[in-house]
Amino acid sequence: MNLRKASSNTLPKVMNGCLFFFQEFLKHPFQIGSVIPSSQALIKRVIETARVDSVKTIVELGPGTGCTTKAILENMKPDARLISIEINPNFYSIISQIPDSRLIAHHGDARKLKQILSSHNLGAPEAVISGIPFSTMGDECGSQIIKAIHEVLAPGGRFVAYQLSKKVISLCSPVMGKEKVQLEFMNIPPMRVCCWEKGNGNGGGKRADNPIV
Ligand SMILES: C[S@@+](CC[C@H](N)C(=O)[O-])C[C@H]1O[C@@H](n2cnc3c(N)ncnc32)[C@H](O)[C@@H]1O
Repeated sequence: MNLRKASSNTLPKVMNGCLFFFQEFLKHPFQIGSVIPSSQALIKRVIETARVDSVKTIVELGPGTGCTTKAILENMKPDARLISIEINPNFYSIISQIPDSRLIAHHGDARKLKQILSSHNLGAPEAVISGIPFSTMGDECGSQIIKAIHEVLAPGGRFVAYQLSKKVISLCSPVMGKEKVQLEFMNIPPMRVCCWEKGNGNGGGKRADNPIV
């Protein structure tokens, strides 16, 4: 797993990124749901859980300032595709400047996931990674996003959500089945990394039992 560490050169950039993230959080606290971007430890766990290095099509929901996006790109296959869907125009503007031809930055709402994928001629993703805050959005909105994810996910594909609260579990388990949860304490705040694996055609989900770090 090749996650870049912050050197003394990258530290000012990281600090600027954190400050910008915090400023956007002050403007849209419920939509952003976190005061600073995810830690390297959390990102590593999410990427390993989603098996980013072995899939062809990856969806990222809520890339923010792009720390997760860049790590996904660093770890995915040369011929894989990543679509990162961000609702905040200022965050989208940052994501759209990442110079990697495998990345599609999309300004839009995760609720429209199916339409967004077909507008880019993308097939069923084998991994959907989400940092969007289900705990601070309405139940209706959260359910729409979960249903959209389940609908588009390839059979055997993984949905990985990193969240502080358990709300994503109560929204997702009726649709996708039993979750597997890991805790990552090396993040502010500590996060749950929840994973579901889509069943192979029986409509329900199955617990993601194969190795999750
Ligand atoms: C906690 S931040 C995660 C940022 C980054 N991925 C990280 O881990 O540091 C949540 C992100 O989800 C975005 N978001 C919230 N609701 C969304 C939606 N319905 N569709 C797309 N993005 C959304 C927010 O704008 C924010 O960038």
